[in-house]
Amino acid sequence: MAMQIDTERISARAGEIARRETARLVDRTPESAKLHERALASLPKGVSSNFQAGDPYPLYLERGSGSKVWDVDGTEYVDCHGGFGVNVVGHAHPKIVEAIRAVADQGIHFAVTTPKTVELAEAICERFQCEQVRFVNSGTEATMDAIRVARAATGRDRIVKMEGSYHGHHDAVLFSVLPEADVLGLRQNVAGETADAAGSAYTTMPTSKGVPQSMWHDTIIVPFNDADAVELLFAERGHEIAALILEPAMMNIGIVVPKPGYLQRLRELCDRHGVVLIFDEVKCGGTIAYGGATERFGVRPHLAAWAKAIGGGATIGAFGGEARVMDAVTRGAAQQGTFNGNPLSVAAGLTALTQVLTREAYDYLGELGTQLAHGCQSAIDEHGVPAHTVDLGAKGCVSYRKEPLTNYRDFLDTNPALFYASYPWMVNRGIFMTPGDEEQWTISVQHGEADIRAYVDAFGEFCAELTR
Ligand SMILES: Cc1ncc(COP(=O)(O)O)c(C=O)c1O
Repeated sequence: MAMQIDTERISARAGEIARRETARLVDRTPESAKLHERALASLPKGVSSNFQAGDPYPLYLERGSGSKVWDVDGTEYVDCHGGFGVNVVGHAHPKIVEAIRAVADQGIHFAVTTPKTVELAEAICERFQCEQVRFVNSGTEATMDAIRVARAATGRDRIVKMEGSYHGHHDAVLFSVLPEADVLGLRQNVAGETADAAGSAYTTMPTSKGVPQSMWHDTIIVPFNDADAVELLFAERGHEIAALILEPAMMNIGIVVPKPGYLQRLRELCDRHGVVLIFDEVKCGGTIAYGGATERFGVRPHLAAWAKAIGGGATIGAFGGEARVMDAVTRGAAQQGTFNGNPLSVAAGLTALTQVLTREAYDYLGELGTQLAHGCQSAIDEHGVPAHTVDLGAKGCVSYRKEPLTNYRDFLDTNPALFYASYPWMVNRGIFMTPGDEEQWTISVQHGEADIRAYVDAFGEFCAELTR
C-alpha cells in the first residue's frame, strides 16, 4: 500500500489536473457551450434549477437509454448522475414507457383521484411501513407539507433540523444547509446564548437571500449523529418543538451514515417530548433498500417524505406516516395541489414501485453498488489518496477525506480540490457525474458490470494521475 501523500502537494496536483481536464472538456463540447450562451438569455444561469449549473458551463443532454445518456455534442456517457437520485429505473425503461404511453391515450390530467392513485398510496404504505399518505409533486412539497402537518398536529411552531442537511427549497428548511466554515457559530441557541444555557443548538444561518428574518427563530440547528445534543435541547425546549426533520443517512454532503442506535434514540426522545419525527426519505427512500431507510436502519418515524426515485422518472412526491398524525389534514391543515396524484406521474410511479424496483432489484443494485465502491476503495488504497468510499445500495460516493464523516463539520474537512479535478476527469472519460462535491453516484437496474468497470477504471487512472 502506498504512503499517504501530503495535502499541499496533492491539492496542487489536483489543481493542474482540473485546469487541463477542463480545457479538454471545453474543446470537446462546443454544442453545450453554444446552448449555454443561448440559454443565458432566457434562463438565469442558463439552466432551470441552480443545482443544474456548473463550471465552466453545464453539459446539456439530449437523450438517455438504459444506463447511458448522450449530450448535445453526441457524446455517450455511463450515467452515474442519475438525475440527482431519481433514475434508479434507468432511462426509457420499457415498462415505464409503456405505462406512460397508456396514460397518454386515456387522459393525462383530471385533478380527480383515480383507482391507480389509490393503488399507489397502498403500495407506498406497504413498502415504507406507514398508514396513510398524501401525494405532492416534489421533495420540497413533501417536506413542506410534512412540517405543516406536524405543526398542526402538535400546535407548536418550531422545528429542528441538522446542520448541513437539505430538505428542499421552501423557507422553513433553507437554514444552515451548507454554511461556510467562517460563518459557523459555536454552540449557541437562537437567541445567541452560550451552549450550556441553550442545550446544544448551533447558530441558525440562512442559506438563501429572500428567506424572511422572521423565520430564523423557528428553525433550530443541531449536529447530525449527536443524540445527546437533541436530548439537551428537548429538555429545555421540547414543549415548543413541533418536528425534528432529518435524512436518516445524510446525502447532501457525500453520504453520512447514522451511528448505531442514533435513530432509535431520536425516536424515543421525540416520543417522550411529543415531537413529530420526520424522516426525509426523498433521496434514501427509493435507493437504499426496498423499504428505504425505515427498513434499512430498522426505525420508524412518525412521518416521512418521499420523492425522486419513487416516480420512476416522473414528477411526484409523497409524505405520510401514522394515521393519528396525518389526521391533521382532515382537521384544518392545508394539504392540496392541482397536480397532486397526476395520472401520468402515478402510472410511472406505480410501475416503478411494483414492477421494476422489486426486492430482487435491490439485491442487484446492492451487489453492483458494492462492486463500484470496492473498486474505488482499492484504487484509493493502492495510491494512498486521502479519501474513502461509502456504499449504500444504489447510492454511494467517494468522499475526499480519509476518515468517514459523522456530521457536516467533518465534511468541511474534505478536500474540494480533489473533487473538482475528478469531475472533468471522469466526464472526459465517459462517466456522467453530478457537478457538485456534495452529491453521490446513483446506479440503476439497467446498469451492468461493464458500466461499473468503466467507472472504476477511469477512477483508478485518476488516483494514479493524482499521486504520480
Ligand atoms: C433530502 C432531500 N430532501 C428534499 C429535496 C427536495 O426535493 P426536490 O428537488 O424534488 O424539491 C432534495 C433534493 O435534492 C433532497 O435531497
